Amino acid sequence: MTPPAVFPPSATDGLGTRPFGVYVHVPFCASRCGYCDFNTYTASELEGSGASPAGWLEAVRRELDLAVEVLGGSGRVPAADTVFVGGGTPSLLGAAGLTDVLDAVRTTFGLAEGAEVTTEANPESTSPEFFAGLAEAGYTRVSLGMQSAAPGVLAVLDRRHTPGRPVAAAREARAGGIDQVSLDLIYGTPGETDDDLRASLDAVLSAGVDHVSAYALIVEDGTALARRIRRGELAAPVDDVAADRYELVDDVLSKSGMAWYEVSNWSTSDATRCRHNLGYWGDGDWWGAGPGAHGHIGGVRWWNVKHPARYAAALADGGSPEAGREQLTADERHEERVLLGVRLAEGLRLSSLGDGGRAAAVRAAEDGLLDTSSLAAGRAVLTRRGRLLADAVVRALLEC
Ligand SMILES: C[S@@+](CC[C@H](N)C(=O)[O-])C[C@H]1O[C@@H](n2cnc3c(N)ncnc32)[C@H](O)[C@@H]1O
Ligand code: SF4
Repeated sequence: MTPPAVFPPSATDGLGTRPFGVYVHVPFCASRCGYCDFNTYTASELEGSGASPAGWLEAVRRELDLAVEVLGGSGRVPAADTVFVGGGTPSLLGAAGLTDVLDAVRTTFGLAEGAEVTTEANPESTSPEFFAGLAEAGYTRVSLGMQSAAPGVLAVLDRRHTPGRPVAAAREARAGGIDQVSLDLIYGTPGETDDDLRASLDAVLSAGVDHVSAYALIVEDGTALARRIRRGELAAPVDDVAADRYELVDDVLSKSGMAWYEVSNWSTSDATRCRHNLGYWGDGDWWGAGPGAHGHIGGVRWWNVKHPARYAAALADGGSPEAGREQLTADERHEERVLLGVRLAEGLRLSSLGDGGRAAAVRAAEDGLLDTSSLAAGRAVLTRRGRLLADAVVRALLEC
């Protein structure tokens, strides 16, 4: 049995002075999409392991109780400013299961006034009743995995929903009382054309959502997609094509009134940005509950065992599900702040960089990668070309 780890006062002293979030990982999917390497399992993969949604929920309740205890008790922990139930496929739990998850957060950390409460959902496991149930339970935001509206692209991605289902689900969510609705897109899939992406963007706009996340397809090792590409059945994604598609996404969304606020995220206003993810990117604190979940509090980062059966067994024994942790050094924390902060539209304060980083910022602006007027105002803000080359800009800014 792993005893619960103790947090040093240096990590917990500022608790509650920074945004505090709770992430809950739901490790179940109806089927595995060919491109996905998230920590998630189908029913047949879990057969014989003893893991089940009911066992998982009980274990999450225990983990949240333990979290409050190790952070100093119920009088001392901050209420959650944001909750994010992610996966996997949280919508497989239904509205009743997701109500139980939120109740577990309410009775442990509690919810701050005006908390943002998000769940991810797969369009095919939603309905008007599902969304009404979520709104009733206190969910304020839903993020739907749309990926594409083009049938051929959905087939390559192994997605099960019909092309029109995500838009219908987004409308049902709004009608059911969910204030904020986001759609996820993937671009650069082998075989996708510009017109396919345009059709997906038209569909997104017709759904009337307030937030879009758009990701270039990543070929993850060990996935069915990687095997198909290795066997020559599918072409590998091409970086230049992905860059052109990113520009298309940005053009269409910005013309429709959505502005980028993080390299892969657009919203209709500051109020409709995802506050939970802003916490991740802005050095916030969060407890990550569930199999394989990661947490971060004041420079201490930890992660749980990945398999749902091992996760539940660790907690049933009265122990902690933690698999490892690290205390970030001041240098590592600085690197994280630069890595994540520069991807935000508000950018980074130049005064937070070393001499080498500030000189690199001037060169990056000369190369058209950082915005010159923001630089003059003391901030490093990516231009659109810079957003396409964000990793290279980060490396340069980290020069001493
Ligand atoms: C956990 S999933 C979202 C919830 C839900 N399971 C779904 O797929 O609809 C988070 C998002 O990550 C993105 N994603 C996952 N694997 C990816 C990959 N290999 N390349 C690009 N985006 C990926 C997809 O857009 C997906 O919607
Ligand atoms: S439904 Fe989402 S989490 Fe599940 S396999 Fe597909 S992309 Fe991954």
